[in-house]
Amino acid sequence: MALRIDGKKISSDIKEELKEKVAAMKEDGIFPCLAVIQVGNDPASTVYVGNKKKACAYIGIESKAFELPEETTQEELLALIEKLNEDDSVHGILVQLPIPAHMDEKEVIHAISPKKDVDGFHPQSVGALSIGEPGFVSCTPAGIIQLLKRSGIEIEGKECVVVGRSNIVGKPMAMLLLRENGTVTICHSRTKDLREVCKRADILVAAIGKPKFFDETYVKDGAAVIDVGIHRNADGKLCGDVDYDKVVDKVSAITPVPGGVGPMTIAMLMNNCVEAALRLSE
Ligand code: GUN
Repeated sequence: MALRIDGKKISSDIKEELKEKVAAMKEDGIFPCLAVIQVGNDPASTVYVGNKKKACAYIGIESKAFELPEETTQEELLALIEKLNEDDSVHGILVQLPIPAHMDEKEVIHAISPKKDVDGFHPQSVGALSIGEPGFVSCTPAGIIQLLKRSGIEIEGKECVVVGRSNIVGKPMAMLLLRENGTVTICHSRTKDLREVCKRADILVAAIGKPKFFDETYVKDGAAVIDVGIHRNADGKLCGDVDYDKVVDKVSAITPVPGGVGPMTIAMLMNNCVEAALRLSE
């Protein structure tokens, strides 16, 4: 029987731990605060931002919401980020992506102080991860490491195959698995014989962005499978990049969709906010 890795439970454990930590920090006069900026009113972004604000409130982190109109200029957004960089009462800054097409996303990410970069998207944060220096790590891959560790799945010495090479998931995922002494392979759309490479994996991280792409022919007996995908099929049901029903009897552990990787992202964002507040208060 495969272990069904319960991301909802693990994220809720992490949030409880953070809630206690924040209560203790407040006794020491540290009041963590996250600034959340949304430009325009993309409905999905509004839901994500709402969930982030809710998680902050639950843990005891103050959230400052900046809801800017679609027609905000790049200069106006950069000026707000600069003001928040300088504001000692703000510890984390998050600009919800995507931003409107007339804006330059790269310049916006670069403008956030690496000390407050709780998304871990700034080049300095990415560089720090590659060379093993302290910095913020992208929340979804950081959450996956927590899922593995808290489920008792050893990474050291294991064959880890990451399918997907995005800056937000695939690349930082590979760096984190390497940091845990895994033997890491990154695959992508041009990988020859993807199936054979995946079948080598003790730990398979599926982030290819195609619904139910991975069936039993891609996985080794007893592998641990982490599904980063989230898709809605024709009848409105959610599914991942992995065909759960076809794979579940072959593997030792697997994350469901929903309720696997998804809930971990916000938990790790909250963790980064608490860390930012601690580091800035040193
Ligand atoms: N849009 C979708 N996911 C994310 C995320 O993790 N961070 C930010 N800033 N925007 C997003």
